Amino acid sequence: MVTQRTFVMIKPDGVKRKLVGEIISRIERKGLNIVAMKMVQISRERAEELYAEHKGKSFFPELISYITSGQVVCMVVEGDEAVAVMRKMIGATDPKEASPGTIRGDFALSKGENVIHASDSEEKARREMSIFFREEEILELKA
Ligand SMILES: Nc1ncnc2c1ncn2[C@@H]1O[C@H](COP(=O)(O)OP(=O)(O)O)[C@@H](O)[C@H]1O
Ligand SMILES: [Mg+2]
Repeated sequence: MVTQRTFVMIKPDGVKRKLVGEIISRIERKGLNIVAMKMVQISRERAEELYAEHKGKSFFPELISYITSGQVVCMVVEGDEAVAVMRKMIGATDPKEASPGTIRGDFALSKGENVIHASDSEEKARREMSIFFREEEILELKA
């Protein structure tokens, strides 16, 4: 078993469309553990830090204005191979390509507004969760 932590964020369209409960429910039913969670309004600075790898791309300005357009729900999700498992559960970046049964496949149609974010590697997970959570805000699960 390889226990990992990953950073997950329900984007403004997911919050506005009241998909928070549905998404949390899927994460819980999968058997993953939510070890930190908060609802925030992301500042432009934090949005640019989260998406630093996309700076300079044509969609970057649109991405920053979308992600700062409303509240988001940030989580740290823990479990066996949590990084790859969450990526599978969210589905492909373009929801038109995402398989039915995935979160994007079931709830989105637009490549820009695709409901949810999850880190794509353990290294990125560490970097991304540190933008939103202090170490003491991430709980140790008691068996
Ligand atoms: N071509 C695009 N047009 C508009 N928005 C995009 C495009 N590509 C990516 N995005 C937005 O930027 C986010 C980050 O892109 P990327 O890291 O490639 O995908 P993912 O979120 O699946 O890791 C996407 O989830 C989406 O919101
Ligand atoms: Mg990405």
